[in-house]
Amino acid sequence: MSRPAEIVFATNNDHKLREIRRIMGPKWHVLSLADIGCHDDIPETAATLQGNAEIKARYVREHYGYDCFADDTGLMVDALGGAPGVYSARYAGPGHDSKANMELLLKNMEGVADRSAHFSTVIALLIGDRMLTFEGSVHGVITTEPSGDGGFGYDPVFKPDEADTTFALMSADEKNAISHRGRATAKLIEYLSDI
Ligand code: IMP
Repeated sequence: MSRPAEIVFATNNDHKLREIRRIMGPKWHVLSLADIGCHDDIPETAATLQGNAEIKARYVREHYGYDCFADDTGLMVDALGGAPGVYSARYAGPGHDSKANMELLLKNMEGVADRSAHFSTVIALLIGDRMLTFEGSVHGVITTEPSGDGGFGYDPVFKPDEADTTFALMSADEKNAISHRGRATAKLIEYLSDI
């Protein structure tokens, strides 16, 4: 078997790395930011998921010289006008964790009948001088209370339309098969396998 191809994924989120490595399989050796010695807090200052993903990919190229891909994800809740959206990681304010974000979301959704929402992931791939983007999304509803302790982020309060349980109650494979990141990554892999 030939050696796996190296590619940098511009993240230090262990959950995301595990998910991506599992989705991409043994053909790829996915390096994290820590693996390339990058411990910088890369600014995410764009107003869109695509903009933030591109900033991260460009940052790694400019400072570390690697081809890489970066992702940005948002949870868009219809009844909240698309919030928390691009600010999903900081919904409860800077320095707050996923639990605080989830609690604020449930509070803001108290008594709200329309609970429809979707996750969207944009992956920016910077390879040579080409920047490409791949999008994946999954539609579902915000539950009234958290259930399950798998996954990460808003997983305990998001139930995709294609399933009977929240993401946090699914196995990694079940989640990856229908998730925003799984779908965006499938497009990335299809592209990478053709070049
Ligand atoms: P990021 O851009 O991927 O860092 O994600 C932004 C925010 O969305 C963070 O608060 C994450 O916890 C949350 N998030 C990203 N992906 C997922 C997911 O697959 N499930 C639940 N929450 C997620």
